[in-house]
Amino acid sequence: MTSQNAAENGKMNVAIDGPAGAGKSTVARRVASKLSYVYVDTGAMYRAVTYYMLRHEIEPEEVDTVLTHIKNLEIELIPDESGQKVFLNGEDVSGPIRSREVTGIVSMYSQIEELRSHLVEMQREMALRKGVVMDGRDIGTTVLPDAEVKIFMTASVRERALRRFKELEKTEDLTLEQLERDIAARDKLDQEREVSPLRQAEDAIVLDTTSMSIDEVVEHIVTRCMDVRGDVGL
Ligand code: DC
Repeated sequence: MTSQNAAENGKMNVAIDGPAGAGKSTVARRVASKLSYVYVDTGAMYRAVTYYMLRHEIEPEEVDTVLTHIKNLEIELIPDESGQKVFLNGEDVSGPIRSREVTGIVSMYSQIEELRSHLVEMQREMALRKGVVMDGRDIGTTVLPDAEVKIFMTASVRERALRRFKELEKTEDLTLEQLERDIAARDKLDQEREVSPLRQAEDAIVLDTTSMSIDEVVEHIVTRCMDVRGDVGL
């Protein structure tokens, strides 16, 4: 069914997974733009849910309450020149979902199995018509196991912390060491959770980007997409 859909509009799906701070979103956004595909940042969806729960003082342990509330949540990802805006029940939450408070606890909510199934269903729907570059932790393994191109992007913890450090606003009072600790802790939670942990799909191409520039990574993935397109006759 999937290859038939792909053949209909000549497009495929691209899955990009990897740990926090590996540069997935920057790369995925650029790959999408080069291919004229739609970029879907699934981390932003987990972040939007987390932001909502924090605002309503619902703890990650209160699973039943979380599940009751997610049914009433409308999450929209709207492309714009900065990449993508995130709307939660009509409100632009693109900024607040990146706060340290949300970042620090998002992995806890992400462990709730039914919450994941709910978001995975939405993500699959977004990719139904193909032409999507989706980044996250479980895209190649769970969300889109039939994606025509699967990439697993990594980089050392130090390098990921350094990249994040360079992006920090001057107002954010964080040291490189704190960032390294935060990233390592989030890696651990994402890799060790029971449901859809962060792991590489068997058929994914692994890209260690520690010593690669963003341009090189983007070029590599776009070339791979062109090759696959040729192979499957798209
Ligand atoms: O990509 P990000 O750092 O914005 O993701 C935020 C968190 O969301 C991440 O720590 C784990 C969770 N996440 C997930 O569990 N599955 C995904 N597909 C994407 C993100």
